[in-house]
Amino acid sequence: MDMEKDDFEVTPWDVEGNVDYRKLIEKFGTERLTENLKERIHENAGSKNFYINRDFVFSHRDMDKVLDDYEEGDGFFLYTGVGPSGPMHIGHIISFKMTKWFQENFDVNVYIQFPDDEKYWTRGKKYDDVERFAQDNLKDVAAVGFDPDKTFIFKNTEYIGNMYKAATKVAKNINNSVVSAVFGFGSSTNIGLNWYPALQILPTFFEEGRCLIPAGIDQDPYWRIQRDIAPKLDRKKAAQIHNKLVPALTGPDGKMSSSEPRNAIMLNDGPNEVREKVMKRAYSGGQVTKEEHRKKGADLSVDVAYQWLRNLFIDNENKIKEIGKKYGQGDMLTGEVKQILVEELNKFLGEHQKKKENKGKKIKDKMMYKGELAKKMWDKNIEL
Ligand code: TYM
Repeated sequence: MDMEKDDFEVTPWDVEGNVDYRKLIEKFGTERLTENLKERIHENAGSKNFYINRDFVFSHRDMDKVLDDYEEGDGFFLYTGVGPSGPMHIGHIISFKMTKWFQENFDVNVYIQFPDDEKYWTRGKKYDDVERFAQDNLKDVAAVGFDPDKTFIFKNTEYIGNMYKAATKVAKNINNSVVSAVFGFGSSTNIGLNWYPALQILPTFFEEGRCLIPAGIDQDPYWRIQRDIAPKLDRKKAAQIHNKLVPALTGPDGKMSSSEPRNAIMLNDGPNEVREKVMKRAYSGGQVTKEEHRKKGADLSVDVAYQWLRNLFIDNENKIKEIGKKYGQGDMLTGEVKQILVEELNKFLGEHQKKKENKGKKIKDKMMYKGELAKKMWDKNIEL
């Protein structure tokens, strides 16, 4: 990678450096969510979305067309996914919360892919491990609260029989020069991964209407291919709405990742673990000594606790402004801001874990096999 030129790189597997999201929009050829478009989304939804308001969801392709379709009564459907390579972390849950928000406010179907095959091919794991993580992740996703009759969650290795023929049609339109240019696949890449993009792209064709994908911007390379081949298959180009990537506790470089659980807040973490991780590891924009801090204040732009509170937790504009002002001018100390973050995290995780434990298994079974949409999907072969 050419780190000197850009100082960061984003791929579906890794993020290096401190991402400049303005530059990334240009590099990937996506579009910024403008104030007008944000307003149009909120008007149609009849409610405001926190992540969009905070510009944490910041970029899109064809979101305007999704709204055109919706306003004309043509509808749309939602698609997202997660790779079961470990327990999920608080970054992973954002695209699911976004998807749920769209489902709740636009009353549309949701398809959720679990590419267990991809994680077997990329992460050097055994299928037993992938399956164990999948069972745990499935309950996390179920706990988000999708409509069980309008949501279909599927694992690739299980649903492949219904998808295979249509996937061969997608695969026929993708050649090796494309996957090597887009993903950097080369002679040492196993051939499973070469084929995998066909499977991540296929669900964008599960319905005739337009597909909207709420996901992290790191997944965008797949959708570039989708948008190239959709017209050849006489289908619509998929639309996307992208979230930024939550950095690890250790600071703005890179992203939070399941493979580095010490530097991430996992959805399974207990209150003491959260406290210890935040207090010990969260990168501070505060000054080294108390005296200096009182004089100069904190650099909010790099402070993990402040950024997480602003982007992920505190909805109340006045409250976050007040924290920013006091911390930025040195009237609040890092320990105090971290303490607020610990409380917010533990409140969110406590509620999430309760739902996961109480209802996770039952709802996941419904959304995978027994709900209305799930039953319909198992009864049909995907056509293209
Ligand atoms: P995966 O498992 O890497 O990530 C799942 C979703 O979480 C997003 N994400 C993050 N968001 C914020 N902060 C982070 N630190 C962070 N890390 C990951 C990802 O962008 C993604 O939206 N191949 C995919 C699984 C997949 C998929 C899809 C994703 C299959 N079909 C359709 C999105 C849409 C994967 O391994 O994601």
